[in-house]
Amino acid sequence: MTEQPRKKLHIKTYGCQMNVYDSERMTELLVPLGYAPSDDLDDADMVLLNTCHIREKAAEKVYSELGRLRLIKDARRASGADMILAVAGCVAQAEGEEVLRRAPYVDMVFGPQTYHRLPQMVAELHRKTGAVLDTDFPEESKFDHMAGGDASHRIDGRSAFLTVQEGCDKFCTFCVVPYTRGAEFSRPVDQVAAEAQRLVAAGAREITLLGQNVNAYHGVGRDGGETGLGGLIRRLATIDGLDRLRYTTSYPAEVDDDLIAAHRDVPELMPFLHLPVQSGSDRVLQTMNRRHDRAFYIDLVGRLRAARPDLGLSSDFIVGFPGETGRDFEETLSLVREVKFIQAYSFKFSPRPGTPAAAMDLQVPEDVKDARLAELQNLLNAQQRAFNDHCVGRDMPVLLDRPGRHPGQLVGRSPYMQAVHVDADAGRLGDIVPLTITGATANSLAAAMAGEAPAGGERRAIA
Ligand code: SAH
Ligand code: F3S
Repeated sequence: MTEQPRKKLHIKTYGCQMNVYDSERMTELLVPLGYAPSDDLDDADMVLLNTCHIREKAAEKVYSELGRLRLIKDARRASGADMILAVAGCVAQAEGEEVLRRAPYVDMVFGPQTYHRLPQMVAELHRKTGAVLDTDFPEESKFDHMAGGDASHRIDGRSAFLTVQEGCDKFCTFCVVPYTRGAEFSRPVDQVAAEAQRLVAAGAREITLLGQNVNAYHGVGRDGGETGLGGLIRRLATIDGLDRLRYTTSYPAEVDDDLIAAHRDVPELMPFLHLPVQSGSDRVLQTMNRRHDRAFYIDLVGRLRAARPDLGLSSDFIVGFPGETGRDFEETLSLVREVKFIQAYSFKFSPRPGTPAAAMDLQVPEDVKDARLAELQNLLNAQQRAFNDHCVGRDMPVLLDRPGRHPGQLVGRSPYMQAVHVDADAGRLGDIVPLTITGATANSLAAAMAGEAPAGGERRAIA
């Protein structure tokens, strides 16, 4: 029997790493239906937008992209072919019918918790006319309904994502996640370990554990009891060939002592932590419903650094939250100066429909938000640069995971996620190699093989 030509699947992913993970799993579900991933959009048989609803800009991008796709779909139709247009992810979940109203040429709309039903949805689409809409929060877990195939397409360089927790019950007043992703849910430890094994077998040496609120993880263990994120990390660290573990995103108020101890005890756990704080003002933190104050955050950072002195911190910030005064903003700047982040993301507050903060009084004017964002980003960029400079002369284990732009050059990731460029033989690809950092720019490092650099490196605490 000759093999049918495979249908082309083009997935475009917006937003967070959890969406990247979901897109990979959707590919795994569609391959048995005859689809093959393709970079080519124009002659795709199915285009799937995996969308993000976190800020207005992210959501609006989807509708402009859909407008463009409509033309391509029409052109394909005119030539006798078809293109299935699917909208998945958090815009689909939040806006469901509205997506079909604004873009009636879309064929499938489904949220982050129902994509395991993709085979049924595709079958339904072929059976009937009209679009398929599925934005349930089903009782069953999608993870129990997806078989694992070859995971090699999920490895980027030598790294992979693994969702261990989903959803959020914290209801920060600005955030859509509790509405789009639903309630907190943790996957059982054995199920996570089996998936990690599968990723390692497909070539991963580094795994980033994902969750909207990943340290709320409390999965069922082998003994039927609950295991926290620290316990899960200890278990995964025993997997042969899994050399590096990371996790994101954490909620400060739920970091427990066992997780802090894991930073001390587990060498595979990289000394880099994304720990969003959002604001340095207690007043703002309270109206954000963050459930911790500034002092708690600073104390937590101290406890983490006591466990792991070389820990580097990253964070998320929102400027221009309703009611944020110049003084509140100064407190954010002073917290940044106090903690010293090695990297961070910062955003202007974006009012999201249905969230309490969108309806709050004292919305901050756009020009004030712009000015505050610029000032904060200047400070954060300077800290990132200072950290990169501080790395010069140090030795670091670097996972060499891709060829560089120049011949004879490889690029890798430091423990702190910095891109590191080094002249090295292509045969070293995939290795974790001790490098001496020889130079720094705002966004990357240059290095030489340790022992070959002019000056030797040494281990130093950060900050
Ligand atoms: N724990 C989550 C964080 C939510 S979204 C996770 O999965 O990563 C990531 C970041 O987006 C937040 O930490 C916050 O800084 C920012 N954000 C969320 N809602 C926002 C809004 N309405 N306006 C601006 N930024 C927002
Ligand atoms: Fe959003 Fe706050 Fe949860 S930022 S994801 S509601 S912890």
